[in-house]
Amino acid sequence: MSVIVVQGYCPLKGEVEIQGSKNAALPMMAAALLHKGTTILKHVPMIQDVFCMMGILESMGCKCCLKDRTLAIDAREVADTEVSREDGKAMRSSIIVLGALLGRCGEAKAYYPGGCSIGSRPIDLHLEALKQMGAEIEEEGERIRAGTTGLRGTAVSLSYPSVGATENVLLAAVRAEGVTVLTGAAMEPEIEQLCRLLSAMGARIEGIGTSRLRIEGVDSLKDTTYHVPGDRIVTGTYLSAVMAAGGEAVLRKGSAEHLGCVIGTMRRMGAEIAADGDAIRIRMEERPRAVSIETSPYPGFPTDLQSMAMVLLSVSQGRGDLKETVFEGRFATAKQLHKMGAEIIIEGTKARITGKGFLNGAAVQACDLRGGAALAVAGLAARGETRITRCHHIYRGYEDICRDLKSLGGSIQREL
Ligand code: UD1
Repeated sequence: MSVIVVQGYCPLKGEVEIQGSKNAALPMMAAALLHKGTTILKHVPMIQDVFCMMGILESMGCKCCLKDRTLAIDAREVADTEVSREDGKAMRSSIIVLGALLGRCGEAKAYYPGGCSIGSRPIDLHLEALKQMGAEIEEEGERIRAGTTGLRGTAVSLSYPSVGATENVLLAAVRAEGVTVLTGAAMEPEIEQLCRLLSAMGARIEGIGTSRLRIEGVDSLKDTTYHVPGDRIVTGTYLSAVMAAGGEAVLRKGSAEHLGCVIGTMRRMGAEIAADGDAIRIRMEERPRAVSIETSPYPGFPTDLQSMAMVLLSVSQGRGDLKETVFEGRFATAKQLHKMGAEIIIEGTKARITGKGFLNGAAVQACDLRGGAALAVAGLAARGETRITRCHHIYRGYEDICRDLKSLGGSIQREL
């Protein structure tokens, strides 16, 4: 059982370098499947989800070498096209190999994906779009078998800007015959980064960064080296830590340009934040001011930072509402924060939160990746000791949250 122990109620002061982005690296790894050659990714985060994706690629015949955060994927041979049940359940992003495998091999077998338990995670939009592109898909219980005699470019329209479905369509379209026009695409920065990697590999994509992508299929791609950008959610986590505990910090390589809505919200809550080159400086002197926050697709407030926002409102002065519009079941962390003295009332997709200034240390359980990290942040703003169990969830997405929060001056360690 992995446990993290935090001694809180002490302002932070320090500096930290932000790891590479999980949500950018994983689809980039899937993209490597499309090319009969080598793709090199730099600044790859050393996290469980990346190790799991490496295992998936290796089980298909790719050779992966990860050293000093540089990952070389040699996909000259792809002999197997099946994601095992175990890998599929371990990580939701496993589903994005579907589009790439169809593009490369014309077949794929996978399972309905697992990952965080944050609400229902349907993949109907992914499957429907792939069918429109010429895939035949059979579902037997949780198993998915997809095959095609050749993917064809076509007009695909997503009724919701699903990040995963956008990635699957993109990956399938790169080597399809003809032109795919995808409307209603997600505009998350990680999609833009995926498009930039694919373009560097030789894909023909127009409309990058917009909700309308035009992809002209190509026969082959080329070897590429690409740098994974800093993780905006990890950056948001550590900014939240400084806001919750008070103090000041410098975050390096944190992708401030992709955190506009988050930084705006944090400023409204009283944080002084300045972006300066690749550094983000934050100072928080008072308790956060309560505001109302609503999650939504990019460029809105990210659902992945909703549980951090819940912590910040819990240690604020005043009352604030937190509305979750992306994943209906993402309030599991509220129950844990109650144990720390938080006053949170859940009404459907809304949490009504009355700030208490500070929380109290308690024994709590990480329920999911971001919720677990939020408990570490809450621990820093709590009097006494907070003991967090089931921290394996956190290591799916954070290289070493204890190392990073320690370098910001926090008293936090992993209990072995
Ligand atoms: C989502 C987030 C992404 C975040 C990631 C990890 C959004 C829009 N997406 O991406 O920013 O990094 O979680 O937590 O904020 N849906 C369907 N059918 C589908 C696919 C999705 O109904 O086929 C629904 C989901 O149930 C959910 C919403 O669409 O309510 C968003 O899903 P999607 O963007 O696909 O999720 P992820 O790709 O996991």
